[in-house]
Amino acid sequence: MAHCLIVGGTGMLRNVGVVFAEAGHRVSVVARNKERLIGLVRDTQRSPGVINPIVADYTQTEEFEKKIGEAIAILGPISVAVLWIHANSGDAAGAVSRLLGNQTEPCQVYHVLGSQAADPTKQTADRSPFEQLEHVSCRSVVLGFKQEPAGSRWLTDDEIASGVLDAIANDRIDSVVGTVEPWDERPGA
Ligand SMILES: NC(=O)c1ccc[n+]([C@@H]2O[C@H](COP(=O)([O-])OP(=O)(O)OC[C@H]3O[C@@H](n4cnc5c(N)ncnc54)[C@H](OP(=O)(O)O)[C@@H]3O)[C@@H](O)[C@H]2O)c1
Repeated sequence: MAHCLIVGGTGMLRNVGVVFAEAGHRVSVVARNKERLIGLVRDTQRSPGVINPIVADYTQTEEFEKKIGEAIAILGPISVAVLWIHANSGDAAGAVSRLLGNQTEPCQVYHVLGSQAADPTKQTADRSPFEQLEHVSCRSVVLGFKQEPAGSRWLTDDEIASGVLDAIANDRIDSVVGTVEPWDERPGA
């Protein structure tokens, strides 16, 4: 039974929390909307694991970091973290990396990234805040698109959650859900 963290876990990643709880884990889920978090707790009540709802805004770094720190103090060190954090959200990823940096137990971070991360015209040399942490292995899951006879389309929530679960189950270091090539054929291009 591990302590897992899902940041942004009541939207498209909701089913990742459900599957973790069904597998018997303690799952801390961060989001702002309390009702949606309570709905997730309710829907997993019969699971062998448990959802620990954390109502927090990840743009409010100090409070966000404090609340996850409290969860670690109660539920133990985090073994798996799944992060879906929108761009321009302050230092949310940095906050998670500071908390994980204080752990001595191994942790795998699955950083879910929007398709912009695959834009060949905007490739940057941004370093992951998790790269330097001794006990942390960082994996990226880029959300791409699907190509169909009628044209390309973005991914559904089910496809995204399944793709993230597949990356975790197979410990994929860099994975893409759907495709990001050819980039010019993405929806709306
Ligand atoms: N490449 C693709 O095909 C692709 C990529 C991305 C998204 N999408 C689609 O687009 C839809 C909408 O995407 P979305 O980005 O809104 O994702 P989402 O996963 O549906 O919602 C975002 C999640 O993050 C939480 N969140 C957002 N801002 C937060 C904050 N400041 N602090 C704490 N938690 C926060 C939300 O809960 P709260 O609002 O309660 O805080 C929710 O749990 C998805 O349903 C997905 O299917 C497709």
